[in-house]
Amino acid sequence: MVKRIADEAALEPIEKASVDELRALQLERMQWSIGHAYENSSPYRAKCDAAGVTPADLRTLADLRHFPFTVKDDLRQSYPFGMFAVPKVDVVRVHASSGTTGKPTVVGYTKNDIDVWATVVARSIRAAGGEAGDTVHVAYGYGLFTGGLGAHYGAEKLGCVVIPMSGGQTPKQVQLINDFKPDIIMVTPSYMLNIADEFERQGLDPAESSLAVGIFGAEPWGEGMRAEIETRCGLDAVDIYGLSEVIGPGVASECIETKDGPTVWEDHFYPEIINPETGEPVPDGELGELVFTSLTKEALPIIRYRTRDLTRLLPGTARTMRRMGKITGRSDDMLIIRGVNVFPTQIEERVLALDELAPHYQIHVSREGQLDVVRIQVEKSVAAVGADAAVLAAQLGKAVKDYVGISATIDVGEPNSVARSEGKAVRVIDERNG
Ligand code: DLL
Repeated sequence: MVKRIADEAALEPIEKASVDELRALQLERMQWSIGHAYENSSPYRAKCDAAGVTPADLRTLADLRHFPFTVKDDLRQSYPFGMFAVPKVDVVRVHASSGTTGKPTVVGYTKNDIDVWATVVARSIRAAGGEAGDTVHVAYGYGLFTGGLGAHYGAEKLGCVVIPMSGGQTPKQVQLINDFKPDIIMVTPSYMLNIADEFERQGLDPAESSLAVGIFGAEPWGEGMRAEIETRCGLDAVDIYGLSEVIGPGVASECIETKDGPTVWEDHFYPEIINPETGEPVPDGELGELVFTSLTKEALPIIRYRTRDLTRLLPGTARTMRRMGKITGRSDDMLIIRGVNVFPTQIEERVLALDELAPHYQIHVSREGQLDVVRIQVEKSVAAVGADAAVLAAQLGKAVKDYVGISATIDVGEPNSVARSEGKAVRVIDERNG
């Protein structure tokens, strides 16, 4: 593995600023952002009026707690452009995220927003050890999803050579990695594993590729998955976080020297953690729902957006800005199985702990009578094709019972039997309402 740490001199001044300087900048920007949303986004103004607050009430950063939240449904209700806060002539791009039901959530960007976005993604790539002249293979999907174009503009801004491969065409991904010899790949962790499988199918060792760094995000992945990818692909794996409502990828990203959770680029996105039941902010270090307020966004200022992602805020290490812990899961993805709360990442940990299993899994939930029934579909790793499926099933079943607290039927298939991802992996198939 080639580990490069960003040169001090290459960092932006704000990355090296003191906490006091950062807080002063945040307050100034937050006052601007709340004023802008209030003046120009009528749905948010209506919420403030109903709550009896005006921008003048934001005197300190702590006053943010008095302002109303924004939720995904607010964007849906003002579909497509009702929350935009600039005239259409100033919007240069839209993206959209498709929900599981109903209309997509549409987000918009001014020219300046695109530039801020490219800056935070460039900063993220730099934090991952990238620099001008590196070749970056982008295998996040291009299109309405923010992953592809977000990564692309950021890599270009840093001065990298970009390979805009997008997702899919897995054999071609391998071909281009072999021929173009990129230093960095940006892709979902689940699709990276799929690409690694394809390397092996072609008789190639993914650890021998030119890739030195992988910048993985858009879906939850645990430390077990990090270790698996790093060993198998011979690269340093770092975590990039973001969501379209806040900007896209690059809201927070991990520094390669510490790999201890994404640093939140707090000069543009102000984080809070709230108790999801009461809506009250909790102190740093406590687990809860992540909430973001954009500080510089023009087309779609977003105030106190409830992400549904569960994590905690931690003190800065490689930078003064705070970090977020790895996302344990989204409150939307939490399964309640006979009263026990389960996140797919907890199952992932158990699958990865068994060497004979490949790191692919899918969880099927159905109902038999009044009972929720869980079936976990996994597969043998190529090296363990000869292993006894019944023994592996019993081992995984016991681990899931002991560590996660639920009983599940385990289905151990042959290599390649679990559906593969080309973007965000579908971890749960809930057959209870269908
Ligand atoms: O997934 C943006 C993105 C693209 C981030 C590429 C990173 C890399 P959305 O499609 O709007 O945007 O989905 C956002 O994905 O609320 C999280 O639940 C999840 N997510 C994103 N990054 C991570 C991560 C993009 N690093 C939703 N770890 C978020 C865990 C993540 N979950």
